[in-house]
Amino acid sequence: MPGRSRPRRSEGTYDPEATTALVLAGRALLRGRLQRVEIAIDDRGRIRAIGKTLPGSPRHDVGDAVILPAATDLHVHFREPGGPADAETIPSGTIGAALGGVALVGEMPNTRPPVTDVESWSSKVRLVEGRAAVDVLLYASPVEPASLEALSRRAGGFKVYLSPTTGIETAPRGDEVPALLERLSKLGLPVAVHAEDPTRFRGGKPAGSTADWNALRPVASEAAAIGSLVGATRALRLHVAHVTTIDGAKRLRSAGLSFEVTPHHLLLSATPRGDARFKVNPPLRTERERAGIWEAFRRGEVPILASDHAPHPTDAKRLPFDSAPSGVPGVETMLPILLARVRAGELDLGVLQAAACDRPARWLGQPTGRLAPGHRANLLVVDFRSRSTVEGAKLASPCGWSPFEGFEMVRPLEHYRDGSRIVEDGEYVGRPDGKVVRPDYAPGQAPSGFPRDD
Ligand code: NCD
Ligand code: ZN
Repeated sequence: MPGRSRPRRSEGTYDPEATTALVLAGRALLRGRLQRVEIAIDDRGRIRAIGKTLPGSPRHDVGDAVILPAATDLHVHFREPGGPADAETIPSGTIGAALGGVALVGEMPNTRPPVTDVESWSSKVRLVEGRAAVDVLLYASPVEPASLEALSRRAGGFKVYLSPTTGIETAPRGDEVPALLERLSKLGLPVAVHAEDPTRFRGGKPAGSTADWNALRPVASEAAAIGSLVGATRALRLHVAHVTTIDGAKRLRSAGLSFEVTPHHLLLSATPRGDARFKVNPPLRTERERAGIWEAFRRGEVPILASDHAPHPTDAKRLPFDSAPSGVPGVETMLPILLARVRAGELDLGVLQAAACDRPARWLGQPTGRLAPGHRANLLVVDFRSRSTVEGAKLASPCGWSPFEGFEMVRPLEHYRDGSRIVEDGEYVGRPDGKVVRPDYAPGQAPSGFPRDD
C-alpha cells in the first residue's frame, strides 16, 4: 500500500513474497454465517487468504468440522516461580492451554516472588523461554514506583489488586487508586484490575461454605470497586477482571470499559454445601446473579471470557473451608465447556468466538484470534459431534481436579500454531517454542473500552 507505514503487529502483517504452505478446508463463521471456506496459510505461519476455493498444496479438508481462530485467555496463574513441588508449571499450564484451544495466555504476577521489578520479570521470562507450548504475555504488579518505567518497557501489562488474594497481602488504599491509575495511563500498557473493595468485606464467624464466602466478600465490595474505576482516565487501557454481578457488567458496559467473566461465575453458584474446592475470589454468587450474568454473556454484552485459572493442589483444597486457598483451575476447559453450550443450542458460536478469541487478543494488541489475512494462523478444528466429559485427573494440570467435573466438553481435535499442528486427534504434539509477547497496538486503536469489533 503506497504511502502507508508498516502495519502494526496487532493489525497483522502480510508478506506478498510468502508462499502457501497449507490450505485448510472446512466450515467457518464468516460475516455471521457458518459456511464452507478454504484458508491458505503461508510459509511464515500467517493467514494468506480466505476464499471459497484457493490454489495451493498440501490441502487438508476437515469436512463438516468447524475452523475457529484459537482463543486467548488473558487471565491465568501458573505457579512458577515459587510454587510447591507438585504445582502447575509453565510447561504443564501451557500444554493445558494448547489442548483447550488457547494460543496465548496472560500470566499474572502473583507468583513467589511477585513480578514487581525488572529482576523478577527477567527471571520469569527465563522460565518461559524454551518451555512454553503457547505464547505467554507476562503481567507485572505496579507496587514499586521506582520500577514502573523500566517494567513498562518490558512487561506485557500491569495487574492491580484492589484487595488481598492468593499471594497478595496488601492492596493500595482506595484513596491511592486514582493517582496510581493516572500514573499507569502514561505508560501505555494494558491494566487489568482485580475489583473487590476490602473495606466492604464482612467479619464474623469463619466461612464454612461458598454461600458464607459470598456473604463475607459480598457483591457490595465489587460494586464499590467498580464505582472507583468507571471514572478512570480514558487514556488508560483498563480491563476489569472476573466481574460477577449483573449490575457490575451493566455499569462497565455503559462506561465503555473492558471486562471479563469466568466460566465458573457463568456456570456455578454459591450454596450452603459448596465446599472449599469452589472457594474462589471473587466468590461464586447466588443462582439469580449467575443466571443473570449468563444471560448477559449469551446476549453478547460481556466483552471477554477468561478462565482465572488458579490450580491449587487437591490437598490444599481439602483443608477446612476457612483455611483453604481461593481459586479454581480452568484454562484447558474454558473453551471446550462453552463449545458444548454452543452444541446444545444455548449459546451462539459468534458470541463465544468474539469473547474468547477476538476481543482478548485485541485488548492485548496481538495479531491473533481472527480469521483475517495477515493474522497468525493460530487455528482450531472443532467437530461438534465429538463430545467428552471433564475428568479432572485427565487434564494436563498436575492439580488433578476441576470444578467442572462431569461437564460436557467439545474439545478441539486440532490446534495449529502459526500454521503448524500442535494438537492432533486431541493430543498435544507440539514443541516448547512459545514466546513472551508484548502488546503492539494499531495506530488509532481506542486506548480503552469495550474492544471494538470490526
Ligand atoms: C487466584 C490465585 O490463586 O492465584 N485466586 C483466585 O481465587 N482467583 C488469585 C486471584 O486472581 O485472585
Ligand atoms: Zn486471578
